[in-house]
Amino acid sequence: LAFRNPDVQWSRASGEISNEEFRTKQYKESTRYRTRAIRFKMASHWEDFYSQHLPPSDFEDNRTLLKEFCERHNKAGERIALITSGGTTVPLEHNTVRFVDNFSAGTRGAASAEYFLDHGYVVIFMFRLKSLEPFTRHFNGQKFMDMLELNDRGPNTTITVKPDSVDILAPILARYQAAQEGGRILYINFTTVQDYFWLLRAACECLGPCGPKAVLYLAAAVSDFYIPSNEMPTHKIQSDGGPPIINLQLVPKLLAPLVNLWVPQAYVVSFKLETDENLLVAKARDALKKYKHKLVIANLLQTRRHRVVFVTIDSSFEIVLTREQMLSGIEIEDVIVSNVVLHHTDFIQHDQY
Ligand code: PMT
Repeated sequence: LAFRNPDVQWSRASGEISNEEFRTKQYKESTRYRTRAIRFKMASHWEDFYSQHLPPSDFEDNRTLLKEFCERHNKAGERIALITSGGTTVPLEHNTVRFVDNFSAGTRGAASAEYFLDHGYVVIFMFRLKSLEPFTRHFNGQKFMDMLELNDRGPNTTITVKPDSVDILAPILARYQAAQEGGRILYINFTTVQDYFWLLRAACECLGPCGPKAVLYLAAAVSDFYIPSNEMPTHKIQSDGGPPIINLQLVPKLLAPLVNLWVPQAYVVSFKLETDENLLVAKARDALKKYKHKLVIANLLQTRRHRVVFVTIDSSFEIVLTREQMLSGIEIEDVIVSNVVLHHTDFIQHDQY
């Protein structure tokens, strides 16, 4: 390619530069073109995904909410954490009856949101619809009903919290109300991997101006395989045609454009989920080398509630909760978020962005 650059050819032919200068120029030119080619290759993949899939129906409303939230808190100089949480689905039909799901209860994301709020961050909680949410997660299933008491059935019915539940409900309610009243948390939900892609990019666009004050904490379990829209049947797959053959394609990794193009100044934390201990740290480090962000939190499916490994490009350390700590109600997300906040503070103070 360098030979095609008329400036370089002319300079050499006119004897204006030495052989060595010529070679240096030639090298620089070819590197410039090669970088462009790599960018194009990377871009085409995720951009194709957007061009082939429509945004969710409530996309514009969500974009407006994100913009307002980020502008308001950026103006106030606050730190913002974008937390993704829960698993994405991959529909098998346009009129979706069946879909492939990704494993995640949303505990990691929902608990972490509460701890980021405790550390003074404002939070964008981007979660899979019907997965766990901050605050309400404590009262899942019948727990909430069991805390209430119905008094005096009739026209003067009142409902009270049972005395032995007040101590449980009160502190959580106080944290919830503080977050709500101050407009410190924004809830945005997704279901499919396509929704997730559109919403995550919109959130990044709004977070861009926040620079290093933004933390992206990507705890959602994102699908790695999908059926492209143009290959998906419109209606429910019928069983009388025999077993269906489903051809899955690779979902492009969003970390690449996210780190390099959308929020290059933000502090990006990705998670790595494996089931084989032997792969865990190596795969986390591969991700850091590939995407060039600062921190991967690696966890095994089987032990994720009490053990994670913080992996940076040149170090790693474990956070492990003992049985006693778990029994006393300590959550691993409390320790994870405290450590992320320390790393983020260091990142801001030492201008590492
Ligand atoms: O919700 P819980 O039940 O509490 O469980 C928490 C958890 C195990 C889901 C969480 O701790 C976790 O590990 N989340 C990340 C799961 C995941 O998608 O891992 P991965 O190894 O497939 O992806 C690694 C990273 O790449 C992720 O941060 C993801 O945001 C990103 N990714 C993944 C796929 C994709 N197409 N694009 C991406 O950018």
